[in-house]
Amino acid sequence: MAVASLDDLLSGAGVRGRRVFVRADLNVPLRDGAVADDTRIRASLPTLRRLLDAGARVVVASHLGRPKGQRKPELSLRPVAVVLGDQLGRAVAFAEDCVGDQARAVVEGLGEGELALLENLRFHAGETDNDPEFARQLAALADDYVNDAFGTAHRAHASTAGMVSGVERAAAGDLLASELQHLKVVLEPRRPLLCFLGGAKVSDKLGVLEALAPHADVLAVGGAMAYTFLRAQDLPTGDSLVEDGQVAEARRILEAARTAGRRILLPDDHVVARKLEAGAEQRTVEEIPDGWMGVDIGPQSAEAYAAEAGRAGTIFWNGPMGVFEIDAFAAGTRRVAQAVADSSATSVVGGGDSLAAINQLGLGDRIDHLSTGGGASLEYVQGLTLPGVAALEQ
Ligand code: 3PG
Repeated sequence: MAVASLDDLLSGAGVRGRRVFVRADLNVPLRDGAVADDTRIRASLPTLRRLLDAGARVVVASHLGRPKGQRKPELSLRPVAVVLGDQLGRAVAFAEDCVGDQARAVVEGLGEGELALLENLRFHAGETDNDPEFARQLAALADDYVNDAFGTAHRAHASTAGMVSGVERAAAGDLLASELQHLKVVLEPRRPLLCFLGGAKVSDKLGVLEALAPHADVLAVGGAMAYTFLRAQDLPTGDSLVEDGQVAEARRILEAARTAGRRILLPDDHVVARKLEAGAEQRTVEEIPDGWMGVDIGPQSAEAYAAEAGRAGTIFWNGPMGVFEIDAFAAGTRRVAQAVADSSATSVVGGGDSLAAINQLGLGDRIDHLSTGGGASLEYVQGLTLPGVAALEQ
């Protein structure tokens, strides 16, 4: 079923004077009480600007971190309100709570073309519980609803799902719509489809590994996940992080790719270290010896992965190839970042470390789409229905 767009909401009766609730994903990293990376705030500006310019009374809500129903001052959205106001060049009213008298008073005080940010939704357990009464309270603050929180669209929470039936009109924001449109290339790729999947654990990426193994022409695995796959092939892993409980699963994934005539690439050389810390003794090996742990794909593997990028029609990348946060173990991730940027394939990148690698190398404008959603993009490319999108279809 079709989802209404922001264009649909703005055309016809429009939104002038109407209270429009915008669920944004302003879950940004904070350092010393200030916003450390404003990517998600910037990404939400186009939708907010269009609504403000159309005369809406805009009520923005988001979560920040996982306070689990507790009011945690260090997870207040107040620093985000400051950055949002600077970037919009407008005053941002801040409501100390997302429901109740505080929220109602701030929303009622909004004039046409004015905006308020509500305090962290997850200070109430009703948000993640998708509690109907909490959802009703959120919906009571609004006439219309816009979901622009792609990064949270895989959560069935009160603000992404429960409240939608309580408003008059609901639409997808421009960011949400653009994310869905760009990520669709992974589901319907120009082939060959090359997927780089990295990260620490097979268990974190099981769903996407299972879905992509038979779908991607080439699935190149990096990060500590790769060592569980090596173990599944009875190859030595030394002291590397291996999930014993996932070895059988890894074997099944390798088998599924083989049966479908697809290739899974695993590193055949490795940067290994004695310890997982900067300055630790390290070397490059083809077989991981006891007493050493894998911390990055080796240079030979990085070149082999990069060569695949040169042949791909579509590339999807999520997750680092090694312990990227330690500079000495970041070469494999950087090589992949460069190769994705150099490739003529349609490229889509999601996930914190992959984006950080792209940004560190100043390659952002050479990637077709940088997703603001880590978990959400992984669920979408598996072909799963995102609850935040499904709610808009009803
Ligand atoms: C994210 O950062 O991936 C989104 O904001 C969702 O956050 P969550 O995993 O805490 O639901």
